[in-house]
Amino acid sequence: MIKRSVIVIFGGRSGEHDVSVSSARSVVAALDRGKYDVVPLRIDRSGRWGIDRSIFGSPGRDASAVEGRLLGPDPSRRSLLREDGRPAEPVDVVIPLVHGTFGEDGCLQGLLEMAELPYVGSGVLASAVGMDKIEQKRLLAAAGIPSVDYVEFRHHEWGATQSHLKRSVRSRLGFPVFVKPANLGSSVGISKVRRSADLERAVTEALRFDSRVIIERAVPDAREIECSLLGGDELRASVLGEIRPSGEFYDYRAKYLDGTSELVIPAPLPIGLAADIRSCAVRAGHILGIHGMARVDFLLDHRSGEFVLNEVNTVPGFTSISMYPKLWEASGIGFSELLDRLIDLALERSARKAHLVRDHRQTALTGRGV
Ligand SMILES: Nc1ncnc2c1ncn2[C@@H]1O[C@H](COP(=O)(O)OP(=O)(O)O)[C@@H](O)[C@H]1O
Ligand SMILES: [Mg+2]
Repeated sequence: MIKRSVIVIFGGRSGEHDVSVSSARSVVAALDRGKYDVVPLRIDRSGRWGIDRSIFGSPGRDASAVEGRLLGPDPSRRSLLREDGRPAEPVDVVIPLVHGTFGEDGCLQGLLEMAELPYVGSGVLASAVGMDKIEQKRLLAAAGIPSVDYVEFRHHEWGATQSHLKRSVRSRLGFPVFVKPANLGSSVGISKVRRSADLERAVTEALRFDSRVIIERAVPDAREIECSLLGGDELRASVLGEIRPSGEFYDYRAKYLDGTSELVIPAPLPIGLAADIRSCAVRAGHILGIHGMARVDFLLDHRSGEFVLNEVNTVPGFTSISMYPKLWEASGIGFSELLDRLIDLALERSARKAHLVRDHRQTALTGRGV
């Protein structure tokens, strides 16, 4: 069997750099070496790209010590990488595991498109929408997917119409609310606000991270239920999991620092409710155009039993103890098999794309397309 060469891209310039490194370590360890040659490509915190073999398990090395240099996309070679100016070997498929800005928001996916490299996960548009809490809500709400009420605005609008915006938060949403930058992850810049007087500070904080802010009504005593998606044109939903955060909500500390948040799989839920949540996850995935993988997060009001879709994550955490692979494991697909499937999906999509007409002159010459 001919081995495929797989580039795993990880790290990145976002606050989730370390999470991405952990994901890559698990993925690299689980990729079947009988099938794949693995090239680990790290983006360091300053945005420099290079091969970093320390991910294979040798003693930790600083991110700045990445070897080699990387340059731009090269479709003629189906390649991405050059070390010291030499063209690198062509690659069969890329697994982008960079979370957050530049990794999960469509930027990296756009670069891979330009290099005509097959890659795992959603394309440019679904990635961008998956990352943007406002646009995501707009699209999902238009299709009737339940979500919380919200108010959104841009930096200059907050400056010009602050008292009007505060009034609409008070009258439309009430308190408490969650104030979030539109385009970020890992709970960075997010605050829970209980009274009007604290709104300004929370908005100022959120505006440090993005020029657009969303303020959401808080789901009371929310249970956090998550569902993994896998597939191409047809998406499948895993069993559901529940996060029991160690803090008051699932903030950065609860996610990454104190490590005491609990994952409960399967989530203890009535069968009918679980089925509704899973089909809602699949529907949302189709509406957003998710491809390959995604984790869909819900908030469940445990008194009323009503749920809302909180967000879709197109590059979910991928360590061996992360929710995304754990949910598939509980649904009968182990970690290595999951990677095989994701790679196959990436290759299928790219093979299909290769047949698309890109240059309209081709249709003009053959007399069609007029
Ligand atoms: N509207 C809400 N009601 C209740 N809890 C919320 C709400 N929005 C966010 N949270 C809490 O904040 C956490 C982080 O918010 P989320 O929108 O998922 O941001 P991120 O993209 O950074 O993960 C959630 O996991 C949940 O604990
Ligand atoms: Mg979240």
